[in-house]
Amino acid sequence: MSSTKSRLASSTDAVHAGIPRRRAHHALAPGIAQTATYVFDSTADLEQYMRGEDPDPEREEYGRYGNPSVRELELRVAALEQTDDCVAFSSGMAAVTSTLFALLRSGDHVVLFRDCYRRTRQFVSGWLSRYGISHDVVPPGDLDAMANAITDRTRLVITESPTNPFNYCVDLAALATRVREKNRRAKTLVDSTFATPINCRPHSFGIDLVVHSATKYFSGHNDVLAGVVAGPSHVISLVREARDVTGAVLDPHAAFLVARGLKTLGVRVQRQNESALALARMLAEHPKVETVYYAGLETHPSYAIAQKQMSGFGGVVSFTVKGGREFAGQVVDRVKIPRIAPSLGGVESLIEQPALMSYFELSDEDLKKIDISPALIRYAVGVEDAADLIDDLRQALG
Ligand SMILES: Cc1ncc(COP(=O)(O)O)c(C=O)c1O
Repeated sequence: MSSTKSRLASSTDAVHAGIPRRRAHHALAPGIAQTATYVFDSTADLEQYMRGEDPDPEREEYGRYGNPSVRELELRVAALEQTDDCVAFSSGMAAVTSTLFALLRSGDHVVLFRDCYRRTRQFVSGWLSRYGISHDVVPPGDLDAMANAITDRTRLVITESPTNPFNYCVDLAALATRVREKNRRAKTLVDSTFATPINCRPHSFGIDLVVHSATKYFSGHNDVLAGVVAGPSHVISLVREARDVTGAVLDPHAAFLVARGLKTLGVRVQRQNESALALARMLAEHPKVETVYYAGLETHPSYAIAQKQMSGFGGVVSFTVKGGREFAGQVVDRVKIPRIAPSLGGVESLIEQPALMSYFELSDEDLKKIDISPALIRYAVGVEDAADLIDDLRQALG
């Protein structure tokens, strides 16, 4: 019934994995525990809890330390990623920053692949450095450069796969092995937002920690911000302690929305895979398109790795057009279905020109240094009909 032995989560898993068979009142859907705190019947009751002897394993103390609606989401993500445990946060960046704060201390070193979400890079280079944590940035997917950068002070190696916005994939099994060979104390962390466990399960390749911006495919409806980190219990408990202190907790109603979104993760992602591949193929043939960055195309540098470790290649297609910044802007303005907005992974298709959105403050010269062309367009496919999306984009390209 489920694909728990395989390397991928199935749609059956997305609907059922990690969900209790029996709920209060025999309800099928979960309730939302919209509470900030939990009561004790007496001081004796409280003392028993504080001693760790409460007979009720489900009892909670205070909203920043735990909530049943949030816990249900965490258990479901752990089941989908096939990890021991998971901890949820108020956003993807809250998940990244709290995890790094939890696992790093002054004098430690981090290796980061270049094509990572820009706020993650900013946090590592601009913020962790204030606390005496050094880092090296290596080219996307370059495992030799990564191995050379690892020192005996390295405690974390961070990458995305596929990356944002170019869909570069990292050979996850090779990454995990080589990090372990170089430094057994270094942990690997993969931001798997673009993949989802429907397309790739990093933990099955030996990766320690898997992060998601649950704002994207997990919730799937562009209506909630959330983040998760999944991994071994002893590491997740450290990350949970950090969350209890930083307070970057997920609201119970938001947790309910993400958990509801997860039920359709399989069907949405499969459709987004198919539509994005069809869109990428159309773009690859189009005379006004320069380069298409989609790992499902044979021309993409990560094609072979993606074939090896993914079942689908995700819903984001990035491409550059001939005609530079101006023509790219015209294409974005002319499409009728996708809305111009940051984010991805939801039911609505979204489109953006990274040079005008995420990298607005950079000159064309500085954009070149980070390989972002002013003519680059990122198209995040939703669940609309592929034929409509293709016709629409064709008319926009003229
Ligand atoms: C790959 C990736 N990781 C992390 C984040 C941050 O997530 P959030 O916006 O939920 O904080 C994003 C946001 O765009 C992202 O694309």
